[in-house]
Amino acid sequence: MCGIVAYIGNKQAQTLLLEGLKRLEYRGYDSAGMATIEDGHVRVVRAVGRVSNLEDKLEDLGGLRGNLGMAHTRWATHGGVTEPNAHPHRDDKSGVCIIHNGIIENYAAIKTYLAEKGHKFTSDTDTEVLAMLIGELYEGDLEAAVQAALREVTGAYAIVVMCEKEPETLVCARKGSPLMVGVGNGEYIVASDGSAIVSHTTQAFHLDDYNVVKITRSGFHTSTIHNVPVNPKVVQLELELQEIELGGFSHFMQKEIFEQPKALRNCFRGRCDIDEGRVVLGGVSGFTKELIKARRVVLTAQGTALHAAMIGEYLIEDLAKIPAVAEYASEFRYRNPIIEDNTVVVAVSQSGETADTLAALREAKDRGALALGVVNVVGSSIARETDAGVYLRVGPEIGVASTKAFVGQVAVLTLVTLFLARRRYMSGDMCAQMMKSLQGVPEKIERILEQDSKIRQVTEKYIERENWLFLGRGYNYPTALEGALKLKEISYIHAEGMPAAEMKHGPIALINEGMPAVFIANRGRQYEKVISNIQEVRSRGGHVIVVATEGDENIKRVAEDVLYVPDIEEPLSPMLTVIPLQLMAYHAAVLRGHDVDKPRNLAKSVTVE
Ligand code: G6P
Repeated sequence: MCGIVAYIGNKQAQTLLLEGLKRLEYRGYDSAGMATIEDGHVRVVRAVGRVSNLEDKLEDLGGLRGNLGMAHTRWATHGGVTEPNAHPHRDDKSGVCIIHNGIIENYAAIKTYLAEKGHKFTSDTDTEVLAMLIGELYEGDLEAAVQAALREVTGAYAIVVMCEKEPETLVCARKGSPLMVGVGNGEYIVASDGSAIVSHTTQAFHLDDYNVVKITRSGFHTSTIHNVPVNPKVVQLELELQEIELGGFSHFMQKEIFEQPKALRNCFRGRCDIDEGRVVLGGVSGFTKELIKARRVVLTAQGTALHAAMIGEYLIEDLAKIPAVAEYASEFRYRNPIIEDNTVVVAVSQSGETADTLAALREAKDRGALALGVVNVVGSSIARETDAGVYLRVGPEIGVASTKAFVGQVAVLTLVTLFLARRRYMSGDMCAQMMKSLQGVPEKIERILEQDSKIRQVTEKYIERENWLFLGRGYNYPTALEGALKLKEISYIHAEGMPAAEMKHGPIALINEGMPAVFIANRGRQYEKVISNIQEVRSRGGHVIVVATEGDENIKRVAEDVLYVPDIEEPLSPMLTVIPLQLMAYHAAVLRGHDVDKPRNLAKSVTVE
């Protein structure tokens, strides 16, 4: 969602801030802005649309000077996508200037209070209200004013504040939305994620919830909003510059699709002890006893991560023989869930910051569940709040449409399943066999990626169609959901995913001449049944595209187009069958001329409910 970058040091802030904004573009946004303190005065420039619009405007205005400043990409929550609603927001009375990620829930009450005091608002945002509250409480100490204001607000925030009256100071704070401070040589870069920091320094610290940091050129001071000092730990950022650059690919989504074999090899490294027939997971081994005793596993997530969690549900029940359920975090958190003894909740999240997933995790923990995280971003909120967990280790994912994180989530959930299964029912030989197959997945994905141009051709045939169906059964029902989600996210084509058997209960009414229906019909327990479902679509004039197992020549009799994937044990098949669907979505978006990495209205990391 919104992105934050701020700078204090000896360089001209504008150049650094623009570079930071470009690195943060992938998070999703609809306007951008920047402010510096120039000769003791706050100057703000904002623009609707892309960072490049802001850049043009800065150029027209002769640029912003100053060694201290802040910049922001906004994803609208309160108020429309307009320049007055873009950040930074300034309180003219006090000279306070602020950028903010998150939502101030009680802003309406604060706004009424401030209006009574004579404040005039120029935007519809909760952020401007916070700027004025800080200004109202300012009594010569910006840090104290920020602390005091934050004691009055409820909701989520990551903020950076500066003030004309203290032109050598940045004050930042966080609750619920991520914020980190890069520590350079006589300079500091504050950002909502490491990608805006790593080209300047690899030393950084995360702010914890309710923490405030005051930064000057000579150092920083961290405290809580109640002014209790805290000591953050400066750590090495585990992010390499090349990981967040395109490196010859046209889009990050494309790069990340092609990176999947390497990403999975990294994910499996050191985790499969084939000789002993055991999965080694350092991040959960301290809780082995509790995990073996688990009587129920609840997997919770949103978006693509939920589809991975659904595959996790099938894996855990099928192979580890523990009742499991996957549920939208946004539903789970509010439905007063019953958490029985020995329940394990697994939060699945690429970013580790999804607001609903984090809230569901807290709810389950409060009710006594053991909390595991299956997370990509090291040190993220979910990673820090879980009792134990397994990182995906697939590297940073920049493309808004999640691809390698999905495959990584399924891979890690498979490892967790085998970890449990082996300690419950599964023999060492069987576990070793599954691990061998698992380690063969990257090479099999490489074989699918070789069919890229064929997949593009097939996609091109149907590119004018506005409605698509994705159908699968068993382990590949969630894959069908994921295929439909990928297509709609970036190509804006309407697509529905569903269990193939469900089609007869309504969606079949949609099928008309030429409607593309993508079936996942790899060899497995329900293969014959999927073939029957394919016939039902064919006989009503739909165009059938099938993802099938290599060597299945029969399938050509019922399908217009066949995309083959190598054979593999059924529980591992979604990691293969999803690859053609990712490529189809990618090509559809490119063919339709859309900005693949910056799809309209979407955010990479959804940090508000
Ligand atoms: C957003 C993203 C999706 C992602 C979902 C969950 O909607 O656009 O790609 O699947 O959030 O994100 P998470 O970081 O928790 O996996």
